[in-house]
Amino acid sequence: MSTEETVTIIDDATGKEVKLPLYTPTAGPKVIDIGKLYKELGYFTYDPGFMSTASCSSAITFLDGDEGVLQYRGYPIDQLAEQSSYLEVCFLLLTNRLPKKEELEEFVSTVTNHTMLHEAMIRFFSGFRRDAHPMAIMVGVVGALAAFYHDHMDIHNEEHRMITAHRLVAKMPTIAAMSYRYANGKPFVYPKNHLSYTENFLYMMFSMPSEDYTPDPLLAKALDLIMILHADHEQNASTSTVRLAGSSDANPFAAVASGIAALWGPAHGGANEAVVRMLIDINESGKPLQAFVDRAKDKSDSFRLMGFGHRVYKNYDPRAKLIREICHQLLNDMEATGEQQKLLETAMALEKVALEDEYFVQRNLYPNVDFYSGIIFLAMGIPMNMFTVIFAMARTIGWISQWNEMMTDSEAKIGRPRQLYNGAIDLDYVPIDKR
Ligand code: CMC
Repeated sequence: MSTEETVTIIDDATGKEVKLPLYTPTAGPKVIDIGKLYKELGYFTYDPGFMSTASCSSAITFLDGDEGVLQYRGYPIDQLAEQSSYLEVCFLLLTNRLPKKEELEEFVSTVTNHTMLHEAMIRFFSGFRRDAHPMAIMVGVVGALAAFYHDHMDIHNEEHRMITAHRLVAKMPTIAAMSYRYANGKPFVYPKNHLSYTENFLYMMFSMPSEDYTPDPLLAKALDLIMILHADHEQNASTSTVRLAGSSDANPFAAVASGIAALWGPAHGGANEAVVRMLIDINESGKPLQAFVDRAKDKSDSFRLMGFGHRVYKNYDPRAKLIREICHQLLNDMEATGEQQKLLETAMALEKVALEDEYFVQRNLYPNVDFYSGIIFLAMGIPMNMFTVIFAMARTIGWISQWNEMMTDSEAKIGRPRQLYNGAIDLDYVPIDKR
């Protein structure tokens, strides 16, 4: 980034001026460095929700919300979706370059050979209630990886950080599938090394020891594509959580567990589950779509159209465009059930009503990645409470690549935001019998 320009801030109260560096990134808006503002003027800045704040510098993912652009390491998402594979994208995000053929083979083999969990970890699952949400199990079990790999890991050693990344990418599908199997009272299924990454996940989710099971290549391909689209997304809530937790030099498995917790909320990765629940409610209610759009516009009602709107995209989310196409194709190829077709029809009709509605037009509210992904997952036979787990599985590479980048960033410091305090001060303690 270049720093030839400056921005001058004048304090109207004192007339004092401070010149702040203005950075020009390779793409995206220029960034004012306010690091010395407090030292010079004695003021903090106030920006709830980080509406105008870059929390770090990064060379991993670029988003242009107005144009609907998403690039990983400079490569457009549609090219990667069409020509790459999830594990190749993992290599790209982690190492900042596309692998040569033999490098990719080695990476795939490394990931394949790390998919097993320590047998003691498997007993960890039985501590959860049978009806636990698989995301709750994921938060716990991924955090528990820290207990297994803490002692022989030096987070300042690049090789150790890479091994950590490989372990995470490899073990997430195993943990995800086991979370589902446990919650459904089914026996755990161990990975099979001859299967591809996504075939293996489907195999661990759906096979039974008593029967033969061959993962459907069509589903494995669709899942691989969806995983590419979810692999990273710049400094979103869960990634920022991983960076903040990791900024204290915390164990990276524990930092990733905190990212899973942040992802779970319906405003973030939990939206894919919420979208399908909403579409089912709409179909069952028998009410016109406009009634739901009207509720979403009513400020006294907390209902929002799930899968609509995005902090950054003020245009069609490029991931939603691609997922919409996959959704159509998959439902056709698989001869989807009437119920699945009906959900897709409701989704498309709702999108049409909302995109023509003044409220949504004015606020640039378009479908986001979660609007169609849930319908695909349903068509794959994946239960609703696993949707966000699959998002977490795919986003793991983004979280660990961003953590790795932070560990090598000479400007990175422990994250420690300040506040605009508006509580009481200087009160005198009142003894309990005098209150
Ligand atoms: N339905 C109805 N109104 C909405 C919606 C929606 N889905 N999204 C935003 N708005 C309105 C909001 O009420 C506000 O109106 P006003 O200006 O009159 O106060 C305006 O649009 C701006 O919204 P905001 O809440 O200030 O925007 P934000 O950037 O803070 O929130 C969001 C972004 C994604 C949390 C929000 O759009 C939302 O809650 N969407 C539904 C949940 C969802 O689909 N989340 C998935 C996000 S994409 C994948 C991911 O990040 O994991």
